[in-house]
Amino acid sequence: MKPVTVLMLVAFPLYCYAGSGCSFLEEVIAKAANASVSTTEYRASLEEFINDENTANAVDKLKQCFLNQSVETLSNFNVMMEIIYNSIFCEPF
Ligand SMILES: *[C@@H]1O[C@H](CO)[C@@H](O)[C@H](O)[C@H]1NC(C)=O
Ligand SMILES: *[C@@H]1O[C@H](CO)[C@@H](O)[C@H](O)[C@H]1NC(C)=O
Repeated sequence: MKPVTVLMLVAFPLYCYAGSGCSFLEEVIAKAANASVSTTEYRASLEEFINDENTANAVDKLKQCFLNQSVETLSNFNVMMEIIYNSIFCEPF
């Protein structure tokens, strides 16, 4: 879980500054942390960014990593992401 979180923390402000909008990334994160979304659904939702087998496997692993977490961990993760959304990282947007 830790490397994934750090990766997101690093990627998030960059994504916001790029001006692409935060809502898409929020959606990607919400789906990752939603236990009702299967790996297949998750992969399908990111289809446009998956252009080879390695990426597809990485997406599956990421989603599986979230599916392996307890409800409590997922809930804590969501709280943490809310705090990040409300932090200065998104302010210039
Ligand atoms: C989780 O995903 C399901 C199925 O896509 C959706 O119906 C539900 O609203 C989602 N839950 C949250 C909290 O976003
Ligand atoms: C998820 O849990 C299963 C069963 O414990 C394990 O085999 C698998 O490697 C785990 N996957 C990830 C990505 O953590």
